[in-house]
Amino acid sequence: MNTIDIINKTKRKEPLTREEIEYLVNGYTSGEIPDYQMSAWLMAVCLNGLTDEETLALTLAMRDSGDILDLSGINGITVDKHSTGGVGDKTTLIIGPAAAACGVYVPKMSGRGLGHTGGTIDKLESINGYRTELDFDEFLNIVNQTGFSVISQSGSLCPADKKIYALRNATGTVDSIPLICASIMSKKLAVNADCILLDVKWGTGAFMKTREEAEKLAAIMEKTAKAAGKKCRAVVTDMNEPLGCAIGNTVEIREAVDILQGRSKGRLYRICIELTADMLELAGKGTHEECAEMAKKAISSGRALEIFRKTIELHGGDSRICDDTDLLPKARYSHVICASRDVEIISINAEELGMASLMLGAGRVCKSDDIDRSAGIILEFEAGDKISMDAPLMTLYSNVCSDFHEAAMRAYKAIKFRNLTERTLT
Ligand code: URA
Repeated sequence: MNTIDIINKTKRKEPLTREEIEYLVNGYTSGEIPDYQMSAWLMAVCLNGLTDEETLALTLAMRDSGDILDLSGINGITVDKHSTGGVGDKTTLIIGPAAAACGVYVPKMSGRGLGHTGGTIDKLESINGYRTELDFDEFLNIVNQTGFSVISQSGSLCPADKKIYALRNATGTVDSIPLICASIMSKKLAVNADCILLDVKWGTGAFMKTREEAEKLAAIMEKTAKAAGKKCRAVVTDMNEPLGCAIGNTVEIREAVDILQGRSKGRLYRICIELTADMLELAGKGTHEECAEMAKKAISSGRALEIFRKTIELHGGDSRICDDTDLLPKARYSHVICASRDVEIISINAEELGMASLMLGAGRVCKSDDIDRSAGIILEFEAGDKISMDAPLMTLYSNVCSDFHEAAMRAYKAIKFRNLTERTLT
């Protein structure tokens, strides 16, 4: 087999065989195929796409480049959930405990945030003492005890994806549906849960900017997972606006606890109930309506919060935050932005708020950057709310930047208002 022939075939839209795809993935992972040849092939894929069969072969070759977890030590049906990333997305912290409270097991490996999107591991590490790097047996033990655990992704999972994703980032080849599918699904299939719920986001704060693109990605990811023998459902959700009112790390833990305490029933709560119901339905726990009722009860009874508390404890974290979120680390500086007149909120640009939060120190520009875990933004409204003059719109938090001017301007400009104050002309 010859790499140049393979590049030429994709360039001419001729489908590759499974063996050719395995040759490419294995050769690149082992270092035999150089970056420049792999880059040329990735660009050909970006321009010409891959068939569904090629996408499956690429996914499986990447999955098989490293360890595949053996979850048979878990005492029941396992459900994994993946979100394609967004601004303020703390759903894992709510739906993991809620689904576990309804009798399924949620073993999750998550990543850190990059750019304007956050990562679940960064959020959990803002709880004092919480360890995200556990050995596999300890991870399984926690999942068996509480039904839910999140650890950071093991380095031995999908080395091919690690190498290919880094190359895609450096060569403008990230935005390709088959490549995104293979990258995400190889990792999900390596984690190896029985059922997989995929939450594909679209909108300003997401990878996929249009609903149509998100639906295409959702369809191929679901098809790939099913062809690999998993129960899978992919749902498409709107990420034009941030998920919830908090954007950052500590502030998002606070909001997740508020929901688990049953104190908040807004859009984030409703989305979490739907996603939990999807997970339970996949696991065969009932119809969607029955599962949604179970999810609501898991939260209103406090069982989901108890699972979150116990999970934090077993990870070495300060679980008292489940009763008192004031025990979470606080930022040294804060800045409140108030409405300068009576306004109605028309829309909130999630990506711009994510960028403002990044400027405050809550996110990373490069993978190796440190983050300020207590930095972030708390919004006082949802789209459609009316706010009176001088009432707070949002609060910005940071430890590193006492001058909030630039971040505040960016955050303010992310909100589209309708002025409710009539001008009186004299
Ligand atoms: N997330 C991934 O893990 N891979 C992609 O290609 C895009 C998003």
